[in-house]
Amino acid sequence: MSIQKRSVGIVGVGHVGSHCAYSLAVQGIVDELVLCDTNEALMAAQAKDLFDAACCYPHRVAIRTGPISALAGCDIVVICVAREIPEVALRDAELANSVREVKSLIPRLMSAGFDGIIINITNPCDAITQIVWRDSGLDSRKVIGTGTGLDSARFRSILGREVDLNPSAINGFVLGEHGNAQFPAWSHVTVGGKALAQLEKSSPRFSQIDKEKITQEVKGSGYQVWFTKRGIDFSVTSVLAQVVRCIYNDEKVAMPLSVMLDGQYGQSGVYVSTPAIIGREGVEEILELELPDDEMKHFGASCESVRRNVRRANEMVAEGLGGENE
Ligand SMILES: NC(=O)c1ccc[n+]([C@@H]2O[C@H](COP(=O)([O-])OP(=O)(O)OC[C@H]3O[C@@H](n4cnc5c(N)ncnc54)[C@H](O)[C@@H]3O)[C@@H](O)[C@H]2O)c1
Repeated sequence: MSIQKRSVGIVGVGHVGSHCAYSLAVQGIVDELVLCDTNEALMAAQAKDLFDAACCYPHRVAIRTGPISALAGCDIVVICVAREIPEVALRDAELANSVREVKSLIPRLMSAGFDGIIINITNPCDAITQIVWRDSGLDSRKVIGTGTGLDSARFRSILGREVDLNPSAINGFVLGEHGNAQFPAWSHVTVGGKALAQLEKSSPRFSQIDKEKITQEVKGSGYQVWFTKRGIDFSVTSVLAQVVRCIYNDEKVAMPLSVMLDGQYGQSGVYVSTPAIIGREGVEEILELELPDDEMKHFGASCESVRRNVRRANEMVAEGLGGENE
């Protein structure tokens, strides 16, 4: 008999990383957490705080800390590093610092022998996921960005509030970039298998919805939260925990995540969000939705925005910015 320990490494244990660790421990998704942060005092304090709650978790969770090489044996590594998030809180404004950090840590993780799945949260999420994939040399099915997983959760929560339904009853996705070019795929919203376009005609609770207002609220949610509490923790880490659970339990459910497109929507070689089947092997299948013209236009704009960030990142690396910490 061989019983495998479920071990997840978390790189960057500030707001997001520490909440990732807590979500995974308190939901009983992992047996071991390995924390890594360049701020060693913070790393030790986060580990101690998580350890002190050990008797409240559904089962025993070992908490370790260490340098990036200590994560080599983990099944999954979650990246949530950041360096001086700019006051403007625009995801693209983090590009230079995020590139510098991942260019420093990914080669060290890989040379230590890591061969699992990487989930990236660091912003700008899609471009950074693409750089992580490229620098890791891993199969693109093993490198995933949380992408619009968070925006889709916001979308379902806000729409649920507007029509007075449990968000879990609503099937709907935000597609594209985890950034300003994102858009809710209104054409694919369903409740109980019934399309929104039909519900708008037949159900009073759907007849009054203001799609533009909801779209803008979804887009603005992150900024609203960040400007007040200087961090976004519960929502994105709930999504992260869902992805990790899907992998460990081989759940094979469709989640909107940032994945490497290979011809879907006429796009290739770019990380952007669309529903994907997630299981033990990571991304098992990428689903391409049939979108009307206006949504296809938004999708194309999202891909262009991510490509622009990747180009900018390449230029920064060529100018020496990305190599500073190596
Ligand atoms: N994708 C999403 O949906 C989403 C949502 C919220 C936040 N984010 C992003 O997550 C990232 C983290 O945000 P936060 O609020 O936790 O930031 P934070 O500043 O609270 O924490 C970042 C941590 O990373 C550490 N760090 C930096 N470089 C490192 C390295 N090379 N190795 C190890 N540790 C390193 C820092 O010491 C710090 O403790 C940001 O990029 C933020 O924009 C993404």
